[in-house]
Amino acid sequence: MLEIKGLRKHYRGGGGAGTPALDGISLRIAEGEFTAVLGPSGAGKSTLIRCINRLVEPDAGEVIWNGKPVTGSPPEELRNIRAEIGMVFQQMQLLSRLSVMTNVIAGQFARMPRWRSLLGVFPAEAARQARSALAEVGLSGLEGRRVDALSGGQQQRAAIARVIMQQPKLLLGDEPISSLDAVNAERVLALIARLHREKGMTVVLNLHNVAMAKRYASRIIGLTAGRITFDGPPEQLGEHELKRIYPPDPVGADHSL
Ligand SMILES: Nc1ncnc2c1ncn2[C@@H]1O[C@H](COP(=O)(O)OP(=O)(O)O)[C@@H](O)[C@H]1O
Ligand SMILES: [Mg+2]
Repeated sequence: MLEIKGLRKHYRGGGGAGTPALDGISLRIAEGEFTAVLGPSGAGKSTLIRCINRLVEPDAGEVIWNGKPVTGSPPEELRNIRAEIGMVFQQMQLLSRLSVMTNVIAGQFARMPRWRSLLGVFPAEAARQARSALAEVGLSGLEGRRVDALSGGQQQRAAIARVIMQQPKLLLGDEPISSLDAVNAERVLALIARLHREKGMTVVLNLHNVAMAKRYASRIIGLTAGRITFDGPPEQLGEHELKRIYPPDPVGADHSL
């Protein structure tokens, strides 16, 4: 279970003024839930996702993962917690000049001595698992290819293979499909849905596509100007609720139905 209590984040710098990115967010996400976070651009979706594993340090509030405090935990504990949390981004964080295989095996960095990964000397078992993960995402045969020689859709699937390799209990995604065409977007979401279904992974994804969110998620959270404006199953997300999540202000209203 993921618990978020009173999470606040106000970025300093820039103009100085302005509203907080997160204005007191509290949530409980049960194990095995598939949650999509919707909201206009600038609503705080990325900040929320990044505060969960402390890629962004919140100003106040708590994040508790299966009873373990993420906020305030010392580096060694944070490292162990992060090993249980997978992450996929819009621009996949792959090492573009290294092979697909190396990148997928990197999903196990948290559990293997660093020198092995740096030297490219992997235990045979890790290589076997990586091949199996690549087969799952339909990239068999591309193990030796450099990541920058893959298409965007293939790169995102390689990123999913890395997540499969990591075997996280929680998968966080920050707009993981927004740089993909419709076919690849569907394919990547279907892969994530399969991980959710078959491996019982808890999933929290920021999405900008309302229709896709409704189709794949079992719970939708609406975020508007750093506050929760909707929380419920997709069936309850109607026109009225959408107007609340995406106020009719032309600035930043970027949802695509
Ligand atoms: N690194 C940063 N420095 C300053 N302001 C930021 C930073 N990241 C995000 N913000 C601001 O915080 C707010 C929320 O941003 P973000 O979490 O990226 O929203 P979303 O992902 O929903 O578009 C926005 O007003 C944005 O401009
Ligand atoms: Mg964002």
